[in-house]
Amino acid sequence: MQGASVTAVSDATSAKVHFSRGIPPLEAIPSAEIAELTGSLLSAEASRLFQYAPIGLHAGDAELREQLGAFHAVDPDRIFVTNGSLQALDLLAGHLLKDAPRKKVLAEAPTYDRAVQIFERHGAQVSGIPLRHDGLDLDVLRERLRTEVPAFVYVIPDFQNPAGVTTSEEKRRELVALSAKFGFTILEDIPYRELRFAGTAPTLIGDLADGVEGARVLTIGSLSKVVSPGLRVGYVIAPLGTPKDLAALAESTYLSPAPLLQAVAARAFASGLVRRNIDEVRTLLRPRHDTAVEAVRKALGDAALCVPEGGYYISVHLPVRTTEEKFLAAAGAANIALTRGSAFYPADAAPPSGTVFLRLPFQALSAEEFTEGVTRLAEVAQRAE
Ligand SMILES: Cc1ncc(COP(=O)(O)O)c(C=O)c1O
Repeated sequence: MQGASVTAVSDATSAKVHFSRGIPPLEAIPSAEIAELTGSLLSAEASRLFQYAPIGLHAGDAELREQLGAFHAVDPDRIFVTNGSLQALDLLAGHLLKDAPRKKVLAEAPTYDRAVQIFERHGAQVSGIPLRHDGLDLDVLRERLRTEVPAFVYVIPDFQNPAGVTTSEEKRRELVALSAKFGFTILEDIPYRELRFAGTAPTLIGDLADGVEGARVLTIGSLSKVVSPGLRVGYVIAPLGTPKDLAALAESTYLSPAPLLQAVAARAFASGLVRRNIDEVRTLLRPRHDTAVEAVRKALGDAALCVPEGGYYISVHLPVRTTEEKFLAAAGAANIALTRGSAFYPADAAPPSGTVFLRLPFQALSAEEFTEGVTRLAEVAQRAE
């Protein structure tokens, strides 16, 4: 049912616009190629793939670890394979918080809401540090570190979910230096890193920490946005030794990720499908990104937190004269599906007063849909009291 506020919107443009989920569009998933290589794997190796994976601190399919090691130019012994990167977040939170004297965790505000829920389930008190257009506000972080050192700091440094922000090279170096000085771990979550449409990639925080005494970085990767989320293949790049600790945790709960899906992922790397698909997804999403950046600028002025250089998201702090509750209701009445922006903030943080935070995923919307969506959002913001 449409509310009175939508009557101004003509029928031709009243279809629902979904700014809600950050999932890959179907055309970004190479389903036919994955099906074909799964078929050939099954005819060649069914008996191995339908047996348990080896036990004894098994860190993942050997070929997949080799491939991931080559992809990231790291020793495969540093790789631990998980069921999607969410499980990596869960295992690492358990690992880092179990015997930690402090349960404090710092995260970007806004940040990926599911990660916060996972950390809290392990007893963490998650506190937000404001996210600027180029990464964490390091002045605020330094101030916090004077009084309390967290068990870990969680960052999504490339095309951040939900804000679209990329952490600058300078801030990455400074984070590594602070990790070394204060002795906290950095969890770096990089599911969107390969989806860059403009500019050059800053160095992985994990790579910057190599050789910096006392710095500790755990990097979490995923195949969800570059091949397929249904494979549920994620991984951790950790210092040597940590994969064995994680394997002990895994073995005492689910033994291992599914051998078949890991083998499919290994084959997807070996056959060149992963690299090819990354190129194709970039080509597919670049125009959607360009449209989104332009449409937000036109309809919402300078409300964007940054101009994203890749990934799925652009986001705004949109000035409104009403509450988030009422704004979301008015947007719903105008047939716009949004995720509640305040849900992306840890409990002790919030968007600047007088604004609502909106994550606007562009990866699955046509130019017409995205433009129509932000135009309607501007109207809603103007009307909502
Ligand atoms: C920052 C971030 N981390 C982790 C995930 C979960 O990815 P996966 O499918 O690998 O579990 C997502 C998914 O949207 C994400 O945005």
